[in-house]
This record gives sequence, structure tokens and C-alpha cells, in this order.
Amino acid sequence: DRPRPLHGRRVLVTAGPTREAIDPVRFIGNRSSGRMGFALAEAFGARGADVILVTGPVARPAPAVAELVQVETALEMDAAVMARVADADIFVAAAAVADYRPAEVAADKIKKQMDELVIRLVKNPDILARVAARRPRPFVVGFAAETSQLEQHAVAKLHGKGLDMIAANQVGAEEGGFDAADNALLVLWAGGQHSFPLMPKPQLADRLVDLIVERYLASTPR
Ligand code: C5P
Repeated sequence: DRPRPLHGRRVLVTAGPTREAIDPVRFIGNRSSGRMGFALAEAFGARGADVILVTGPVARPAPAVAELVQVETALEMDAAVMARVADADIFVAAAAVADYRPAEVAADKIKKQMDELVIRLVKNPDILARVAARRPRPFVVGFAAETSQLEQHAVAKLHGKGLDMIAANQVGAEEGGFDAADNALLVLWAGGQHSFPLMPKPQLADRLVDLIVERYLASTPR
């Protein structure tokens, strides 16, 4: 039997993309598959945690968790997280949340009349930064998907958002990242860093969760 170091702890995980409606039939989305977030939820569960998984729309079956919350938009994900974060010991933001949403959602399907169409976008709340700003707060882990200067951007996000840990991955490269079965990660925290080579996401999630548990237990006198 595997040790259950998170027995009695609550872990809140976000996963998948969000969809931001343009009109009743169209949305702005992204290529997140939900694989990494789902694999993390599963790995936390295997270590004894009560896992709450808040997920955007994905095409794969969700793992068995204590609570599954299915949302569509960033605003819905934000509300679902804020309603549950007070009880969480660890928060992991693996969702690819849309940074912007259309300022207005057209009530009727937009017709192709004009040669050009401008859709004005407004900023969505940064769920991860909002959780990190709370006091008291859970142990907070974010992700950073970057197309260049991986470490610099990750360090900036670790400090800028006030996180306990950040897991950065290169996207737009040949292998790994969004909508891929495999991934590689550079993980940073205040006292150190660790890099995981390219491997299947379930295996990577397992090793990342071991590192999160180690840092979480070291960082808190709970
Ligand atoms: O700033 P950036 O979007 O690159 O940060 C990525 C991290 O922030 C991920 O952990 C993602 O889940 C989280 N995030 C969030 N809410 C947003 C945007 C990003 O929780 N609106």
C-alpha cells in the first residue's frame, strides 16, 4: 500500500480550458485537454486527499474525486473556486483560463453582414492570483505555459502572483505542453528548483505531487 500523507487534507484543483461566449453558438476557447489537471487530481487522491476538481469543458472522463464541479467560463470557475477555497489546504491551478472574455455576449447569432467584425474583450479575474492574495490561504501552486524564456517568466509569475510554487512548461515546441500526452516541467519555489524531463502526464503528475507534498509539509506547521 502507498503511504497516504494527505489523509484528511483538502486539495482544490482547476483543470481544462474555459469557454468565453461570443454569441449563443460561438465561444473563444483554447487547446487545453485537461490531462494534466485530471492526472494531478488523481495523484492527490491516491495520497489520501479529499480532492475537489473544478474543470472546464473537456473531452475526457473525469477521475473519481470527492467533488467534481463542471464549469464553462472563467467567471464560473472563479465563483466555483472562491466558494470552496476557504477549506482547502492546497490549491493547484492547472486550468488554462481565458485571460479575456467578450465585453458583450450577443443575444442572437452574429450574422456575416460586415466585411470586418470587431469583438471587444475585457479582462477575466486571475483566479490563481486571487487565491494567493487571501489570508489565510492554502499552499498555492500555479502553472506557467510559455513559448520562450521559460525560467524568467516563471520566476516573474512566482513572485508577481505570490505563489508557493510554479510549474513551468514550454508550449508551441515540438513535444509536450498543451493538448499533448507528454510534458516536461521546470518547477520553482522560493528555496529551490527541480526539472522533470519529458514523460507521460500521469507519471509527471505523480512526481510533481510528491514534490508538492514535500514542500507543503515542509512549509507549514499545520
Ligand atoms: O499569467 P498566466 O495566465 O500565464 O498564469 C498561468 C497560471 O495562472 C495557471 O496556473 C493558470 O491556471 C492560472 N490562471 C488563473 N486565472 C486566470 C489566468 C490564469 O487561475 N484568469
